[in-house]
Amino acid sequence: MHITDAQIRSELAKLGVELLPGSSLATLTSLGIGGTTDLLRISKHKALPALLDLLERHHIPYKFLGGGSNVLVDDGELPWVVLKLIKPDPELRLAGNLAHVNAAADLGRTVTFCARHNLGGMEGLIGVPGTVGGAMRMNAGAYGTQIGNYVREVQVYRAALHKIEILRGDQISFEYRHTSFAPDDMMLEVTLGLPSKPYKEILKGIRICNEKRRSSQPMGQKSAGCIFKNPPGASAGRLIDELGLKGRSIGDARVSDRHANFFVNTGQASARDMLTLIAEVREQVEKAYGVKLENEVVVWSS
Ligand code: EPU
Repeated sequence: MHITDAQIRSELAKLGVELLPGSSLATLTSLGIGGTTDLLRISKHKALPALLDLLERHHIPYKFLGGGSNVLVDDGELPWVVLKLIKPDPELRLAGNLAHVNAAADLGRTVTFCARHNLGGMEGLIGVPGTVGGAMRMNAGAYGTQIGNYVREVQVYRAALHKIEILRGDQISFEYRHTSFAPDDMMLEVTLGLPSKPYKEILKGIRICNEKRRSSQPMGQKSAGCIFKNPPGASAGRLIDELGLKGRSIGDARVSDRHANFFVNTGQASARDMLTLIAEVREQVEKAYGVKLENEVVVWSS
């Protein structure tokens, strides 16, 4: 989708919104897949209500992108513009056991920054790619930790209401890879309440999780983490592996040889390749075990 109207472009500039025409979503997502559209980079939260008013007045559809690490974007010219928050500097402030973190901050850097200040609890999240806002939206978790456990307060832009709201952690429901946020809520800032722990001890936990991850997951390859949610009481990766599907490929979309719930882009995979592979694996698992795997990855179809 292209914003060509000079009047709209000038209003965007007045709001401090940077317009990057024809941006490739493949370069903005960890899977390296996705077509092109206009990217709007936002530096001031305060500009959001006016920005969304402007887009809606002109019937311009939009989507919010976080770190792009859990999304599979369609191919070709995309029928919506993409909004992305620019990371401020600094990304976070500490006050006692509370960390006030900008939603656009990198999750891994947040974990290590807090660790250096003797604040722990999130060791298991090291190695989970993406932003703090993205992790919160889907309650990212690993190795027995989930971010929702530490959320004290969230500042969120509620697109449906056109206003910024502050929610307490206990007003949000955090479930397995799911939260009560609306799909068009945009995370702005999060306050995490973290337990005090000596840096050395946190570092030990971080190293153990890093080691586990390195030995069981494909690092350094283009992926969106796990493709499917684990069904109750089972591991999607193990079910897929037991069917001998590791290495199964469609074009450059491939079931990882290391962890069968990671699907990797080995070169120039298209969304169509990846979606076909997802559908095929889901079907085979259902046929063999009677279990219908649910996507964990968020699909942006055009
Ligand atoms: N397994 C296999 N073959 C495989 C993969 C796994 O046999 O190809 C077996 C393992 O040997 C193990 C069991 O399945 O006995 C569970 O595997 P693992 O410990 O890797 O955990 P998982 O259930 O596959 C979950 C999360 C991961 C998270 C890890 C570690 C989901 C969908 N996955 O994976 O999260 O990193 O636990 O806590 O909840 C993600 O959310 O994107 C993600 C990767």
